[in-house]
Amino acid sequence: MARSVTEWVNVTGDISIIARESGEVWFHTPNGTKEGIDPFATPMTGAGAAGSTVGLLDGAINLGFAGIEKRLAHPDPMVAGYIVALVGAYHTSVDTPRNLQRAAGRFEELGRPEVAAYLEERAREETGHDRLALKDLRALGVPAERLVANFIPEGIKPLCKRFDDLCVQDYPIGCIGYSYCLERIAALKQETDIEKVQAMCPDDVDATRFLRSHSSLGSEATHVEETIEFVASLPANDRFRVVQETYESALILAEGYNHELLKSEAQMLEELEQALGEALPFRHSSYPLHGEKRGARPAA
Ligand SMILES: [Fe+2]
Ligand SMILES: [Fe+2]
Repeated sequence: MARSVTEWVNVTGDISIIARESGEVWFHTPNGTKEGIDPFATPMTGAGAAGSTVGLLDGAINLGFAGIEKRLAHPDPMVAGYIVALVGAYHTSVDTPRNLQRAAGRFEELGRPEVAAYLEERAREETGHDRLALKDLRALGVPAERLVANFIPEGIKPLCKRFDDLCVQDYPIGCIGYSYCLERIAALKQETDIEKVQAMCPDDVDATRFLRSHSSLGSEATHVEETIEFVASLPANDRFRVVQETYESALILAEGYNHELLKSEAQMLEELEQALGEALPFRHSSYPLHGEKRGARPAA
């Protein structure tokens, strides 16, 4: 019988993630083992397997979020926060197809047609997702184009920059780690998260197109599965870089979420209205039609 696959990646100076094909994952401190007998001190070189690759990828996300978990604010749900989240969703989607195509072109030049094909496919699948966010904003009565043209949430800017930078690198394999991080977190959203947003909106308003599509109910779950399979098929040094970038992206994402979540509703409204140069069609968490109806805002 073939031996079960074990994969490992050192993500920070003193922490490595180790994952077995069976699903076991643990964090390892290289210094904690006697010199010379640490089997994880040198980078992995073997083949990957979906069961262990997913352990590395999700371990990297958990590690990235671990630092700020205790600081995460739990604010009251509010429409202003949902609008900010939709603007963020627009900005993290609008350049995705073009960026992925650029990275695909580079892998074509490098003689890696299988990576190019994977990225081309992703670029096709992500096309039009920015428009879902715009439609949701319009459904909420917000002048969508003007708002996104004038406003990028502070916490989202470093994330957009990271993806832009990754996709123009000479060897842009890290863009797969970034995409995995965002899609994996989106796929955690459940039907109840969508219902909470719907409860916050007037009955005849559908402002959850983007959220539905980027949740466990939409295409994200499939994208995540496909990415795990693909990353597992890559050579060890590519898997190493993808996992490292998943960790770096998770750090940036966690910091950005925290930055936005710590704002009060009044701050968010002020930012939105300043960008628009006019008042939004509602005030203080509720629609005029729905005085007390409120629900949780998604962490997107
Ligand atoms: Fe998307
Ligand atoms: Fe996706």
